Amino acid sequence: MAMTMTKSDVRDLGLAERGKLRVEYAAQEMPVLALIRERFEREKPLSGMTVAACLHVTSETANLAITLKAGGADVYICASNPLSTQDDSAAHLVAHHQIPTFAIKGEDNDTYYQHINAVLDARPNITMDDGADTVSVIHKDRRDLVDNIVGGTEETTTGVIRLRSMEKEGVLLYPIVAVNDADTKHLFDNRYGTGQSTIDGMIRATNRLVAGKTFVVCGYGWCGRGVAMRAKGLGAHVVVTEIDPTKAIEAVLDGFQVMSIAEAARIGDFFCTLTGNKHVIRPEHFEVMKDGAIVANSGHFDIELDLNGLESISKARRHVRDFVDEYTLANGNNIYVLGEGRLVNLAAAEGHPSGVMDMSFANQALASEWMVKNGKSLERRVYAVPEELDKRVARLKLESMRIAIDKLTPEQEEYLNSWTIGT
Ligand code: NAD
Ligand code: ADE
Repeated sequence: MAMTMTKSDVRDLGLAERGKLRVEYAAQEMPVLALIRERFEREKPLSGMTVAACLHVTSETANLAITLKAGGADVYICASNPLSTQDDSAAHLVAHHQIPTFAIKGEDNDTYYQHINAVLDARPNITMDDGADTVSVIHKDRRDLVDNIVGGTEETTTGVIRLRSMEKEGVLLYPIVAVNDADTKHLFDNRYGTGQSTIDGMIRATNRLVAGKTFVVCGYGWCGRGVAMRAKGLGAHVVVTEIDPTKAIEAVLDGFQVMSIAEAARIGDFFCTLTGNKHVIRPEHFEVMKDGAIVANSGHFDIELDLNGLESISKARRHVRDFVDEYTLANGNNIYVLGEGRLVNLAAAEGHPSGVMDMSFANQALASEWMVKNGKSLERRVYAVPEELDKRVARLKLESMRIAIDKLTPEQEEYLNSWTIGT
């Protein structure tokens, strides 16, 4: 296909052929999104809409962008993290689909925000975020765009938390659908997707043996449960840290050892934070870690490890292999930090497998269609994905797996709807 001069900023358009193969390979595992794309091609539900998507620019996201374009949207895309872009997928979007893409793996903070602003220059009608950064820039610096916006969608837990706090303070200026909160998103993406890809990133970066080691998981929410489950599967002794007593009991009953981070810091070989919270691992914890400890984060922002604090107690730092920085402490111990403390599954591996992103991005596509239809009548609030859409994604996924489930008999339906029928 001919290369065009689509305005964009990607590393190298010469990577487009490799990106095409990668994106088509991912598509094979995304049957639900494919069905939506076929319908979008016929019905063009996003016709006339400009979508500003700030997502991890991966092969799966490329398939989503192609789907939105098939639905009639003008799609502009930038990265939702400076280290998560797949440069070949980005090049493919520009060269073969004429989708303006602004994302380069390893971009600095200034470039990251320039790219968000480049996408916002398109004056979007729909924003699509993973972490609420376009919403944040619009609300802080580009309020002139708000009148043009019908609504937005949000992919991740941290983004939804930010948006809910904006709603609570009464400062949210347009409606947003919390895609993260759909069952067919967080039950699978956050748990099984993060579970597998986080371990994948930690192993790819370090090539360390996990079996027989102590693996500390900080945060036992959806993502933490997935990582704990998979680390156990690889033969690690898994320790969980939490601040929520209920989640802590759940971890105990799931068979994990629960303790404070102060205690866990002394015994862990691997550490991974998945809390969405700040400075979960601090200098006093790094100071007591074993020589050679591996420390990573898979929560949305790079704030979970206090790396400035670690720097301040280190006498040397060197980059020892891709995505691995060695910090030598005053006591002589080395601590290895992965992916600069950015989400390790996207920095050091390829993010979640396509089979799980299929459901997340089916929700994104359906939520944007719903927003186009309903946005004008909505309030400036955070909305759930309508249950009907969530169940539709689940049904289509099951069908694609050729798995049949039962239907309620009329007798069962009557029983479930009745309070008078007893023994
Ligand atoms: P969640 O709310 O289900 O779980 C977070 C857990 O962390 C909660 O149980 C909370 O009690 C616990 N926690 C908070 N502060 C803590 C602390 N100081 N120490 C120990 N535990 C603490 O959220 P989630 O859906 O599991 O998401 C977690 C983070 O991962 C978010 O930032 C989210 O945006 C991100 N995320 C990343 C990916 C990825 O691809 N890496 C995918 C999905 C979500
Ligand atoms: N978030 C986690 N994994 C992802 C992927 N493969 N593509 C886009 N966003 C993601």
